[in-house]
Amino acid sequence: MRDGLTIGIAGITGSGKTSWVRQHLKDESRLILIDVRGEHNWLPLWVAEENKSDDLEDALAAVSIANRSDAEVRFRFLLPADRDQVWVEFLGKLAYHIGNVTFILEEADIYSNANWDNPGVRCLHNYSRSQGVTFIYLTRNLPAISRRLTSNTKAWVLFRQSEPRYLDQLEARFDEEIVEIVAGLDDLEYVQVFSDHTWEKGIVTL
Ligand SMILES: Nc1ncnc2c1ncn2[C@@H]1O[C@H](COP(=O)(O)OP(=O)(O)OP(=O)(O)O)[C@@H](O)[C@H]1O
Ligand SMILES: [Mg+2]
Repeated sequence: MRDGLTIGIAGITGSGKTSWVRQHLKDESRLILIDVRGEHNWLPLWVAEENKSDDLEDALAAVSIANRSDAEVRFRFLLPADRDQVWVEFLGKLAYHIGNVTFILEEADIYSNANWDNPGVRCLHNYSRSQGVTFIYLTRNLPAISRRLTSNTKAWVLFRQSEPRYLDQLEARFDEEIVEIVAGLDDLEYVQVFSDHTWEKGIVTL
């Protein structure tokens, strides 16, 4: 899954977003995952080497080793709470620079809002296509995400949404048929919508 797409995964809590990532990406050999809530135990956790003064530089060096398109890179990052924006900025830009990698961002609405995108996020959705970077972001709160990011999103995985303002947002972007399906999904069911407006339903297996 390194075709340079930006993919948005949205749905209410417990609907299956995180599980979708695990199911579809567990065998991916080049993967950087921002594990905001520490849920992705299937992927090796990047751990700071002891006695390093700057963990971020250490992390960047570790990922930079993968600066060859065929080398394996499989890391998930737990972010330091007081520097999470800085880490997302640098790791996002680094994914862009190394290229040919899948970058996954949990809780994307912490890093994008109506007036602002984290610079790493902006770099990924604006420029990553040419680098073969697939950018996958997950959110419970799609209306909060910037229009720049949503309009650069080329494929969607939509899990159940129930709040009217979420469904309104979907209506502005997708056919009425899609909105009706999304409102009626069960947990773990999803609709995948492609840029040519075709869609297919699926279900996550745990
Ligand atoms: N390994 C597992 N075994 C059994 N049930 C699981 C497992 N992982 C997740 N679940 C359940 O699957 C459902 C979907 O969980 P998941 O974490 O994928 O949702 P989510 O959309 O990411 O939610 P959130 O927005 O809170 O992050 C939940 O009911 C959860 O309790
Ligand atoms: Mg989740």
